[in-house]
Amino acid sequence: MIDAVSNATNAYLSRMPKARRKTHGQFFTGQNTARFMAGLFSPERFGGDLSILDPGAGTGILSAAVVECLQKHSSVKRIRLVCYETDPNVRGILESNLRFLADRSAIPVEWELRTENYIASQADTYNHSLYAAVNPERFDLVIGNPPYKKLPKDALEARAMPDVCHGAPNLYFLFAAMALFNLKADAEMVFIIPRSWTSGVYFRRFRERFLRDGALERIHLFKSRDKVFGQEEVLQETMIVKIRKSFRKPDRIVLSSSETSEDFSSLQTLELPYSVVVSGSDSYVFLPTSHEEAATLRKLAGFKETLPHIGLRMKTGLTVDFRNGEDLRNSAEAGAVPLFQSRHIRDGHVVFPVGKPHEYIMARQPALLQRNANYLFLKRFTSKEERRRLQCGVYLARQHPGYPLISTQNKVNFIGGSTDLPDKIVFGLYVLFNSTLYDSYYRILNGSTQVNSTEINAMPVPSIDAIADMGGELLRCRDMSEGTCDRILESYL
Ligand SMILES: C[S@@+](CC[C@H](N)C(=O)[O-])C[C@H]1O[C@@H](n2cnc3c(N)ncnc32)[C@H](O)[C@@H]1O
Repeated sequence: MIDAVSNATNAYLSRMPKARRKTHGQFFTGQNTARFMAGLFSPERFGGDLSILDPGAGTGILSAAVVECLQKHSSVKRIRLVCYETDPNVRGILESNLRFLADRSAIPVEWELRTENYIASQADTYNHSLYAAVNPERFDLVIGNPPYKKLPKDALEARAMPDVCHGAPNLYFLFAAMALFNLKADAEMVFIIPRSWTSGVYFRRFRERFLRDGALERIHLFKSRDKVFGQEEVLQETMIVKIRKSFRKPDRIVLSSSETSEDFSSLQTLELPYSVVVSGSDSYVFLPTSHEEAATLRKLAGFKETLPHIGLRMKTGLTVDFRNGEDLRNSAEAGAVPLFQSRHIRDGHVVFPVGKPHEYIMARQPALLQRNANYLFLKRFTSKEERRRLQCGVYLARQHPGYPLISTQNKVNFIGGSTDLPDKIVFGLYVLFNSTLYDSYYRILNGSTQVNSTEINAMPVPSIDAIADMGGELLRCRDMSEGTCDRILESYL
């Protein structure tokens, strides 16, 4: 069944330009991935009559995979399949594929193709389902590869689901939230989606809702980001999730990973406590792919504080260069203050000036100025090739006398400023953020190369006293290396 659907999909792909498909957020699941996804359901848990939903069905490869997989389950007696697809270019193929499926299936399949917008058409039901008069449609299994498309915040779909949006949403997580809504209690969904929802403030409302109403049971990660959709070039980091609609969370969760979607035969599998994977006040989802990474999460889970809990907070630098071009200066002059940037962070210290353009800014705008106090500076951007994601430097106010105020470029983050941080605390913070453990932890939490202050502020840290002690040790040994930081941190874990 999948082969036939796949052939029809390839024929469509060869005649439909990618740019046209992109306007629908359209890229298709490969055969192996579709089979793997369908195999994650537990159909034996349900009765003989199974209802299945495939929202954004494309050419129907995921429906074909589920129907094919269900042939092996003697408990399944009848299938009702509902597909949504809005793109008229693909609908003809989908319809003939669904007809083909129903003809070939050993289990009777009753199918329905809906051409309306999956999200907007359910806006009323979604927002008023608590009223008895509104009776939402619910399914046993939902399988999906949702459209990936950024929407304006006043888009029809965004307005249909205000409870999960924070600013401009992406269609993919609206599909995931609606799919969960469309499940019966205790029923299952399997989705292939980008990884981006697992951290970050934009996805927070979605994440909290999704993980409150649903229990994450299985995660599959692709290590190589470019081979997931077979011949489709998709540069998103993607994952497959299986979720049961239940407030009760499992004790453990299975995470598997494979290099590409072409080969699911050699999976690396980890089983971890649910609380290690889904964690923190922001419901982050951590995606370790090895026992070493899982150990990193466990070790830091022993620290119960966060920076804001201990009266500190990482913030993003204040000056955006291109908006303040006329105030930038190449050298010190009356009325100008140092503008600290990523390039000043060197080997754990802040080196200034380095003889490059725009190292000073006129002190005209109060919003761009901060006290000349002790800080820990942390680069916001590093390249994929760099060994460390977290790269920081200690800034000591006394090394820059004569400036009551300074400024920081928005490509650095900083901790400090609101209170005077003693040297020991700044050096203690350096021990944390220059350690291998914190660098690994951040990578597991966030796959991108950007270091966001929101995520840093949610990371577990030791008590302020312990941080000061660590700083004291570092000052005594006068060695800012990663190895020394690791050794000092180790004794506090
Ligand atoms: C990423 S593709 C996946 C197609 C198919 N499920 C697969 O796995 O190959 C998403 C599909 O959703 C369709 N789509 C986009 N927006 C939609 C909406 N609001 N309602 C229903 N379908 C939509 C697109 O036309 C596209 O075919």
